[in-house]
Amino acid sequence: MSSQTQEKAESATNSTKKFKLGLLGCGTVGSGLLKILAANPRSQNLQVVKILARNDKRADELATQLELDRTIFTTDASEITSDPELDIVVELMGGVEHTKKILLDAINNKKNIVTANKDLLALEGEELFEAAKENGVSIYFEAAVAGGIPIISTLKQSLSGNTILQLQGIINGTTNYILDVMKKEGRSFNDVLKAAQDLGFAESDPTNDVEGYDAAYKTAILASIISGKRVNVKDVFCEGIANISSTDIQSADKRGYEIKLLGIIKNDEEKLDARVHPVFVPKTNPLSNVHMENNAVLVEGDAVGMLTLIGKGAGSLPTASSVYGDLMMLSSSLSSSSIPDQQFVCTHSDYAAMKDINDVENSFYIRVSMHDKVGVLKDLGDITSSNGANVKFIDQYNVQGQEAHADFIIDPVKESIMQKMLTDIRALDTIKEVESVIRVLN
Ligand code: HSE
Repeated sequence: MSSQTQEKAESATNSTKKFKLGLLGCGTVGSGLLKILAANPRSQNLQVVKILARNDKRADELATQLELDRTIFTTDASEITSDPELDIVVELMGGVEHTKKILLDAINNKKNIVTANKDLLALEGEELFEAAKENGVSIYFEAAVAGGIPIISTLKQSLSGNTILQLQGIINGTTNYILDVMKKEGRSFNDVLKAAQDLGFAESDPTNDVEGYDAAYKTAILASIISGKRVNVKDVFCEGIANISSTDIQSADKRGYEIKLLGIIKNDEEKLDARVHPVFVPKTNPLSNVHMENNAVLVEGDAVGMLTLIGKGAGSLPTASSVYGDLMMLSSSLSSSSIPDQQFVCTHSDYAAMKDINDVENSFYIRVSMHDKVGVLKDLGDITSSNGANVKFIDQYNVQGQEAHADFIIDPVKESIMQKMLTDIRALDTIKEVESVIRVLN
């Protein structure tokens, strides 16, 4: 048989091939995935044959809850990673070190991987992707960023003809919810966070969300796809929302902005700028209109221009929808070729040159409390002008006895210059306190 005829014959066999899946973890997203698989006739070629449960008790519970045969469950990950019958391992258990070992085992046994684990990819992606390359398998991870929003395949596939110039994303639902409720109900950060925890909406340890780490992991993953290089999450500047007050939110509103925690990537200069921090978003930007726990990603490509995707960034079915989409793409690619789809293979191994936050230019909102004395505005003006910073807007208000407040916004300056100006402002006799400093989206 000629090699061409043989390829055709293999392809015909593969197109009817059934793919056997092992599921690592069957919590919120795993059970959502099983529902979608059961409801969708297109998934007839996908068969979940093994599911890893935490322990026997949990396996008993899941078998009853999901009305599945108890024998499908195992508590031993190696029964999945080394099963020669299995083609694809779906990882929905979370965790980093232990999970990495299990996935490396699966990859070394030539399993393709679908995962929703952004912490794992952002922290240990290098080892996993290198192993996948060596073993000729793929890692699909749509669900790792922005839950149900198909941003990874949009960037890798639909926008592959573009250089992505910038991306701005609301990629953490918990912080968007907190900021939104703070605004709507005029409540403090701590108050809204506690209420969200009591409702089980925010984690009991909210650090990863409120300090911006979760968004930084997702930003590192997106920055890597956009730049076509590796991005170390340690190089993604990260500041959370714990210091945002309702006064900040009201001030922003009065001046035509909403405060959002954004992942920001700029890819239009020699160095890649990737960061996470709260920012004043103009009300003309579609991201300003994204409420509660929703996520949104605005992308600018050199060919397509601007586009925005908005939707649910977490939850059982939205996240499972992305996992399912990965399974469809992966099985279709495996059906037509014995090598992985190159658009979904990580081929790069060098690290992106990253812009230091001190060199990043931003506009800034600053609020100070000051003594109500002659010359105080001149003092502030002297500092901004001697640093070459243009004051775009200034508002003095709430003069009570000896105290006044001033809000001002300055045109873009480098972060290092802003920090120097803050030191000078804090040293002024006329200034009581710098109450707030928040970057403004350029
Ligand atoms: N904790 C995340 C969020 C969801 O609040 O958006 C999982 O990535």
